[in-house]
Amino acid sequence: MASYLQIHDDEKGYDLDLFCVPRHYEKDLDKVIIPNGLIMDRTERLARDIIGDMGSHHIVALCVLKGGYKFFADLLDYIKALNQNSDKSVPLTVDFIRVKSYCNDKSTNDVKVIGGDELSNLSGKNVLIVEDIVETGRTMQTLLSLLSKCNPKMVKVVSLLVKRTPRSSGYRPDYIGFEVPDAFLVGYALDYNEYFRDLSHICKLKEEAKEKYKV
Ligand code: PRP
Repeated sequence: MASYLQIHDDEKGYDLDLFCVPRHYEKDLDKVIIPNGLIMDRTERLARDIIGDMGSHHIVALCVLKGGYKFFADLLDYIKALNQNSDKSVPLTVDFIRVKSYCNDKSTNDVKVIGGDELSNLSGKNVLIVEDIVETGRTMQTLLSLLSKCNPKMVKVVSLLVKRTPRSSGYRPDYIGFEVPDAFLVGYALDYNEYFRDLSHICKLKEEAKEKYKV
């Protein structure tokens, strides 16, 4: 089973004024839960684990947009650094897919693929799906089922976060950065109705902010 860094339910987090947070979000956030530096350190180790397991053949890294873009970019930078600085290296190419299921703080139960590269290009390839968060698991299960129709050689999934929630289907990715409490988290490309992607740290959203940015 994948090892991960557990953020406990009683985690108090850090006061916002200990870190640099955009002024326009200061009133909307409760606490910093995972500072950017810790995300980066954990991502560096995930890169090492992934290359250790998958690193003998060409890897296609598939970024699940939009939430996955920051983690994808940073993870690939660490994989590139490993490729540049060791005797063993593996070619890496990138593909993108856009999937959407959340409106406000709820899953719509309707996982829509609304753009991106043709999945059929992944036939016969070793694919690494890169996602920001697994909550119910529905998005990833839908994507895996679509992908299996294209007959990839191997598929692994890395998610920066997995939420501990009774709404989970039980699906677990192959690689996990952090397991987090059942709170609404934003930042590091995780959004609430498209806001907060421009925030470096992963933070807990205040209840009143959900109302403010509701659509
Ligand atoms: C978020 C997130 C995952 C999905 C996880 O995407 O990026 O793809 O929800 O939820 P699940 O496990 O309950 O399916 P969202 O639909 O908000 O789109 P976004 O990536 O554009 O923010």
